[in-house]
Amino acid sequence: MHASILAPSILAGDHANLASSAAVVEQLGLQWLHVDIMDGHFVPNLTFGPQTVAALRKTSKLFFDVHLMLDEPQRYVKPFAEAGANLISIHIEPLYDHTEALKRIRELGCQCGIVLNPDTPADAIKALVHEVDLVLIMTVQPGFGGQPFRRDMLPKIEQISRWRAERGLSFRLEVDGGVDLSTGADCRRAGADTFVAGTSFFKAKDRSAFASQFASL
Ligand code: DX5
Ligand code: ZN
Repeated sequence: MHASILAPSILAGDHANLASSAAVVEQLGLQWLHVDIMDGHFVPNLTFGPQTVAALRKTSKLFFDVHLMLDEPQRYVKPFAEAGANLISIHIEPLYDHTEALKRIRELGCQCGIVLNPDTPADAIKALVHEVDLVLIMTVQPGFGGQPFRRDMLPKIEQISRWRAERGLSFRLEVDGGVDLSTGADCRRAGADTFVAGTSFFKAKDRSAFASQFASL
């Protein structure tokens, strides 16, 4: 079983000072930073472009876990790889050549991930799990931080975790949306090992305690 990784989401950071929000994460000794990219089409919200990621890259050594919520992610993997992404995840729902896009991400020197929305069944990615470094299970409808965790996603986490064991694969299993210490512990029991936390991390009174409690999940 992979050790647990906490990936704070910069979406819940200070948008007028993203570098300082990333520095808070790095200073705690954490390694990952989750970066949500939204296009106003695939999800009803807008966030950052590659220029912002490139600017952050200059100030941070964190592992950038870039989550593309885009209708045409294949058009943007190169700019985000060049901006300094370490891992790029793309959704299964839009129509494009997923295998080709995942391959492209690898060729660009990044790890690759595939993402499922809450309404998308696990079966939709069954044929792709051997091609990815990470499977990201959305535990809210993507678009906004601060939404309640969907407990009905726990069986999906269990199912994908079971496939991983049965096929002897080693991709990371990440959850995103409404994750805090309590829901994170439930996800861990279901098989998740990588935890995106936006609101719960940035609003925590004692972030250091929060991070060490996650580390021992
Ligand atoms: C939602 C994003 C999440 C978001 C999670 O569309 O993909 O990464 O930052 O925020 P919280 O942890 O506040 O639910
Ligand atoms: Zn995300």
